Amino acid sequence: MVEAPPALEARSLSKQFGAKVAVRELSLTLPRGEVFGFLGPNGAGKTTSMKMLLGLVRPTSGEGRLLGEPLGAARGRARVGYLPEHFAFHEWLEGRELLRFHARLLGMPTRGLDAGVEERLRRVNLADAATRRVREYSKGMKQRLGLAQALLGEPELVFLDEPTSGLDPLGRRLVRDVIRELRQRGTSVFLNSHLLSEVEVTCDRVAFVKGGRVVRDMRLGAEERDLEVEMRLERTTATLVADLARFGHDVRVEGDRVRMGVSGEETLPEITRWLASQGVGLYHLGARRPSLEEIFLEVVADDADAVLG
Ligand SMILES: Nc1ncnc2c1ncn2[C@@H]1O[C@H](COP(=O)(O)OP(=O)(O)OP(=O)(O)O)[C@@H](O)[C@H]1O
Ligand SMILES: [Mg+2]
Repeated sequence: MVEAPPALEARSLSKQFGAKVAVRELSLTLPRGEVFGFLGPNGAGKTTSMKMLLGLVRPTSGEGRLLGEPLGAARGRARVGYLPEHFAFHEWLEGRELLRFHARLLGMPTRGLDAGVEERLRRVNLADAATRRVREYSKGMKQRLGLAQALLGEPELVFLDEPTSGLDPLGRRLVRDVIRELRQRGTSVFLNSHLLSEVEVTCDRVAFVKGGRVVRDMRLGAEERDLEVEMRLERTTATLVADLARFGHDVRVEGDRVRMGVSGEETLPEITRWLASQGVGLYHLGARRPSLEEIFLEVVADDADAVLG
């Protein structure tokens, strides 16, 4: 059997609006079934990236594939669900009518179309509001209707741009559950979100984007995430700090502490043995996995020039 192509592939995708570079050389591969979180501050280029991948914004340069098809090709688009950040619905339609309309646009076969629409309405807790006009929906209801729309047609890949921005805690949990169900079915998800606690529990992998550029990419499984190590040493010399870099990254001195990132626990005894071999006393060593929020704040706070080179 021929293996299915990745859900998504991007190679050096860039987008420039006049003098403004919104996305710089985005390269990424999203394997089938992965839930991927795209994180970054306002204006970082998340929505623009998503729209390029969907074929809604034409890249200035670079290329990509969506489910094996060139970006923008109808054959790929038809197998993708999309909840936009700012959606504009036909507000005069009733909720159910709107979903039926979108289902027909998708070319869903008439047989099973109504059942599919009802299932989505129930899934997002809008069955009771199905005959109300969208104009009368609250913000959260509209967002859930948008989610139902994105799930029509059994998509193989679902793009969600800030899907929980208008939702209360119950609605946020609903989105989280929907994402888990998608993953169980092997559907890939590309998620833009600022709610890091949500991302932390739903995503397999995240990339941090800033100033249009991916500045960090990491897996989220507890055992796979880098550890933040803190040490208090008998003495801290520039050579020692430079030498520690071989065990990890971002070695820095803060007050009387040395901090650094390491990729796994097995590095800790290596560090202690090496320090002993150098005759350097170790007074304290602590290691913990920073939360996504801490990492986000650190990435965002970094001097933009240093990050962008
Ligand atoms: N159509 C456009 N014309 C000109 N500039 C644009 C356009 N769309 C986006 N930009 C600019 O590109 C940059 C990236 O915008 P984008 O909407 O992709 O950011 P974002 O990461 O989604 O932000 P947010 O978290 O606020 O949704 C911003 O500086 C924005 O002003
Ligand atoms: Mg956005």
